[in-house]
Formats: sequence, C-alpha cells, structure tokens
Amino acid sequence: MVHLNIRTFAAAGALALSVSVFAMGDRPRGDEEAANKRIAPVARVELAAPVAAASGNRSGEQIYKAVCGACHETGVAGAPKTGDKAAWAPRIALGLDGLLKSAIAGKNAMPPKGGSDANDVELARSIVYIANKSGGNLKEPAAK
Ligand code: HEC
Repeated sequence: MVHLNIRTFAAAGALALSVSVFAMGDRPRGDEEAANKRIAPVARVELAAPVAAASGNRSGEQIYKAVCGACHETGVAGAPKTGDKAAWAPRIALGLDGLLKSAIAGKNAMPPKGGSDANDVELARSIVYIANKSGGNLKEPAAK
C-alpha cells in the first residue's frame, strides 16, 4: 500500500514537469525579433542611392547635401543624425583622422565614402561639416 502511494506521487510529478516544459516552448521568440530588428537597417541602405556631381574640389556642404544628408539628415539606417550632439560626441573624439578612416572604409550600414565619389579632401570636408553642426570643432583640411 505504501509502495503504491509513492508511485502515484512520482507520476504526478512527471506530469507537472511536462506541463512546464510545454509552457516554456510557447513563449514568444524574443531572440528572433531582436535579430530581425538588427537586420532591417542594413536592408534599407539600398534605398538611399547616393549620387554626386563630378568630383573635384567640392565643399563639405556640397558633398553633404548631395550624398551624406540622405542618411545623416534623418538618421536612416541607424546613422547618427546631424546636430545630435550626444550621438556625435564619442565619434568626434576619434578626431578627423579617425573619422576619415572609418568614412573611407565604411562602417556597418554606412558604405565606403558614404557611397560618394568624393576624394579624400572632399570627404574630410564633409565630415568636418557634419561634425561641426553636431557640437564639434574640427578644422577643415587644406585644399589639395
Ligand atoms: C547609406 C547611409 C549613409 C550615407 C549616405 C552616409 N552615411 Fe555616414 N554613417 C551611416 C551610418 C549608419 C553610420 C553609423 C555607423 C556605425 O557606427 O555603426 C555612419 C557614421 C558616420 C560617421 C562616424 C564614423 C565613426 O567612426 O563613428 C561619419 C564621420 C560619417 N558617417 C560621415 C559620412 C559622410 C561624410 C557621408 C557623406 C560623404 C556619409 N557619412 C554618408 C550612414 C550613412
């Protein structure tokens, strides 16, 4: 009689266990949603088809308006918005050389040179333009 009681108890325990395993499997897939959100900005980059006029000796403002503004004006694809001092402060801390390096190579959703045909001086000027509208005080490089 005692033996039978123990077996009944064990069976009830197994049932409770399988119910809780089922409940866990039913939970929303948070990881998958987060992954989709991370992928989305990259997918949207192709919408911004940056087109610039003939390359040469353009000002930072010209390059910015022709190309960079497509992303940095509104913050599309996770771009730090022009004028957002908090977003730019840690980047400006890299200095113009550091920023130029990542702008030339591209960074995450930002394509190399922002997709522009700017030469290095033009690119540097456009970086100075954005940075100085965003709390920075960088110096424009001399013309080539
Ligand atoms: C297609 C969208 C897009 C365009 C066009 C674009 N950017 Fe960006 N940019 C981004 C994104 C996104 C980031 C943030 C990258 C990161 O840190 O993940 C970024 C970051 C930067 C940074 C900071 C880099 C760093 O090291 O933190 C600079 C400087 C910059 N962009 C300059 C420019 C300039 C100058 C242009 C125009 C010549 C330009 N961007 C055009 C999307 C763009």
